[in-house]
Amino acid sequence: MLLPAADVKKVETSTSSRGYSMALRTILHYPDKRLRELAQPVNRFDGDLAKLVADMAETMYAAPGVGLAAPQIGVSMRIFLVDVATGEDQPSDLRTFVNPVFLERVGEVRCEEGCLSFPGVHEEITRAERVAVRALDAEGQRFELEAEGLLAIAIQHEHDHLEGKLMVDHLSLLRRRLVHRAMMKRAAG
Ligand code: NI
Repeated sequence: MLLPAADVKKVETSTSSRGYSMALRTILHYPDKRLRELAQPVNRFDGDLAKLVADMAETMYAAPGVGLAAPQIGVSMRIFLVDVATGEDQPSDLRTFVNPVFLERVGEVRCEEGCLSFPGVHEEITRAERVAVRALDAEGQRFELEAEGLLAIAIQHEHDHLEGKLMVDHLSLLRRRLVHRAMMKRAAG
């Protein structure tokens, strides 16, 4: 999920504190068909997964976005990251969700959302106001979390990506057509 989005096309590398090099990954844009795949559960928590999560974090922050799901970089796995601490002097609040499931979705709220896979698009979308989620972290440790506000919205937005669902699916047919047309125009350059 996004704040005003920028294209992330170039690949840069840097070294994390844990010693492996990180890389920016290319973010897929609508209407890339890979965004429509049902992502698969993660069952191995190894160095490859740690590297993937580190790359996702670097790619999300570079965009910049407040959330990124693995399918958005062409990896069909049930993983997403969220960091809704957007203030410059706020400490980061990076959370990794692997194989997440909703335990509860309560209430209704409308909020303007963007998506790194839909550069330049911002649309009002209705979501649950509060959610409870169970997931694994990047080390495979199970946790449960109750969230509201922007965090709850970001979690729902990113979870949609694991189901192959996109923000346009929440819009009226008219809005959906307008967004589709804008994205096709953008893709055509
Ligand atoms: Ni998104």
